[in-house]
Amino acid sequence: MDSTIDYSQVILHTDKLTKRFGGLIAVNEVTLNVKRGSITLLIGPNGCGKTTFVNTITGYYKPDGGRVFFDGGDITGLPLNKTYEKGLVRTFQIPFPFLKLSVLENLLVAARNNPGEKFTRHLIKSSWIKVEEQLTEKAFNIMKMLGIEEDWDKEPESLDAGALKLIEIGRALISDAKMIALDEPIAGVNPKLAHNIFSHIVNLRKELDITFLIIEHRLDIALRYVDFVYAMYRGKIISQGTPEEIARDKEVREVYVGGE
Ligand SMILES: Nc1ncnc2c1ncn2[C@@H]1O[C@H](COP(=O)(O)OP(=O)(O)OP(=O)(O)O)[C@@H](O)[C@H]1O
Ligand SMILES: [Mg+2]
Repeated sequence: MDSTIDYSQVILHTDKLTKRFGGLIAVNEVTLNVKRGSITLLIGPNGCGKTTFVNTITGYYKPDGGRVFFDGGDITGLPLNKTYEKGLVRTFQIPFPFLKLSVLENLLVAARNNPGEKFTRHLIKSSWIKVEEQLTEKAFNIMKMLGIEEDWDKEPESLDAGALKLIEIGRALISDAKMIALDEPIAGVNPKLAHNIFSHIVNLRKELDITFLIIEHRLDIALRYVDFVYAMYRGKIISQGTPEEIARDKEVREVYVGGE
C-alpha cells in the first residue's frame, strides 16, 4: 500500500493485480485506485487487458497474483456472486437483456437475482406483495432516471442500442451497487446517444452516490465526463491523470495513433 493515499476515500484498490492466460500476461501487475464517488475511466487499445481486468476484480477470473480491496475489505479471489453481494457490479461489453421480457421485467429479474434479497423471508403473501410493489416502484424510479420509463413495457429487441445500454445500467442500479464497472457503455452507439448515456451516468453519480469505473475507447466523448483516467497498454498501466493530462500525454497518444 502507498502511504500517501487516503484509503478511506478509495472504494477500489488493486495492488499488482495479475492475470495470465497460458503464456500471455493479460493483466500485468496493475495497481490502481478508484476514488469513492468518482467516475474513473480505464482506456487502452483493443486487447490490452481492460475487460480481463474487470473480470478479475469482480471474481469472474481468479487472479494469478496481487490483491483486490473493495470498500475497505480484501476481496481477492472472491467469486462473482460474492463481489456482487458486496456491491461491486459489472455490465457487459455486449449487453444481453432478456429479449422476450419487457424493460421493467428485465430490471425486476436483475433485482430478484440479487443474492442480497432474501426472498424466503417473504413467504407470507402480503409481505411478498409489498416487496414486489416496492421493487416495481424502485424499477420505475431507475427507469425515470435513465429516461427509459416510457419504454417500460417494450421488449428490448424493439429498442435501439443506446436504450439497451441504459437497460444494462438499470439492471446494475437495481442491485444497490456501490460501484458499477461499465464495459464500453457507448460501443456501437451514435455520438448523440453516447453523450446522452454519459450525461445519465453523471446524473446518477450525483443522485445516488455511486462510483463508476468505465472502460471506453472513444476518448473524444468519454474524457469530458470523467474525473480521473488510467491508460492501459499490453496489460500494464502506462499513464494516469486528469482527463486534461491524459489528452496531452505523449505515450497515450502514441498508443492510440500508432495502434498496437
Ligand atoms: N478467456 C481468455 N482466454 C485466453 N485469452 C484471453 C481470454 N480473454 C482475453 N484473452 C486475451 O487477453 C488479452 C486481453 O483481452 P481483453 O479482452 O481483456 O482486452 P480488452 O482491452 O478488453 O480489449 P477490447 O478493447 O477489444 O475489448 C487479449 O490478448 C485477449 O486475446
Ligand atoms: Mg474488452
